[in-house]
Amino acid sequence: MSYENTSEYERFAEIYKVWTSTAASTNQNLAFYIDTYLAAQGTIVELGIGDGRIAIEAARRGCSLTGVDLSPAMLDRCRKLSAEAGVADRLTLIESDFRHFDIPAPATLITLPYHSIGHLPSIEDKREAIQHIFENLSPGGLFVFDDFFMTPQLMSHMRAVQLRAAYQNTEGNDCLLWVTSLIDELKQSISVVTWEDILDDNGEMQKRHYRRLSLSWLEPDQISALLIDTGFTIEACYGDFQRTPFETARAREQVWVARKPD
Ligand SMILES: C[S@@+](CC[C@H](N)C(=O)[O-])C[C@H]1O[C@@H](n2cnc3c(N)ncnc32)[C@H](O)[C@@H]1O
Repeated sequence: MSYENTSEYERFAEIYKVWTSTAASTNQNLAFYIDTYLAAQGTIVELGIGDGRIAIEAARRGCSLTGVDLSPAMLDRCRKLSAEAGVADRLTLIESDFRHFDIPAPATLITLPYHSIGHLPSIEDKREAIQHIFENLSPGGLFVFDDFFMTPQLMSHMRAVQLRAAYQNTEGNDCLLWVTSLIDELKQSISVVTWEDILDDNGEMQKRHYRRLSLSWLEPDQISALLIDTGFTIEACYGDFQRTPFETARAREQVWVARKPD
């Protein structure tokens, strides 16, 4: 089964590097997940590995990981970048949905970084994924993931039209990458809309490429209920990637650490 966002990432892959290198939270989530991987004693699986932004950096520091992703274009990028970094032999890549991946033995640590749980549109899809993750962890194993913490401030920031980046493409053309988001508060869904303007030598627009990403979020009590219903013990919920305990008034993210009981 595939979602709209499978094909979304086939096109989004082209701008993923620019996207992550200009995002507010990527440096922080990178450092958090690398520390989490380095502390893991056993097998590590990253769901939604994407272009390997986090996994390749962890592999450079000695980790071996399995990465799962539904998008062939993102996995191709991961293969290319991991080969360039000289760590391809430390990554095992599996093309699969979060909810149905198949690994040879239960893992010690499964992660789902960078709001990627939000690519599953409904709470039932998320429940199915969390159940499958639980079944694929060894006793005592950890599930670590993050989600948006949606506040009025974050919504108005995301709704604003922003110039995200200015750069040259591989053909040497100047490009401008713009973004805004359509947010449905009742459905807890986000449609991220980007448009990339490709300019000619006179600064005239030659082409415009639109790309979308469909996302969603859960409130903290919804996540907590899903984890507990599945059988996880909640070890921590942080409000940022510096591991500050979650407090509604100050949190900028939801960063969850859940353990499968022994
Ligand atoms: C936001 S990116 C995260 C990539 C990487 N973990 C990072 O932090 O940069 C989300 C990734 O999840 C993948 N993805 C989206 N829905 C998926 C699904 N249902 N099953 C597996 N992968 C999925 C996308 O193809 C994309 O590569």
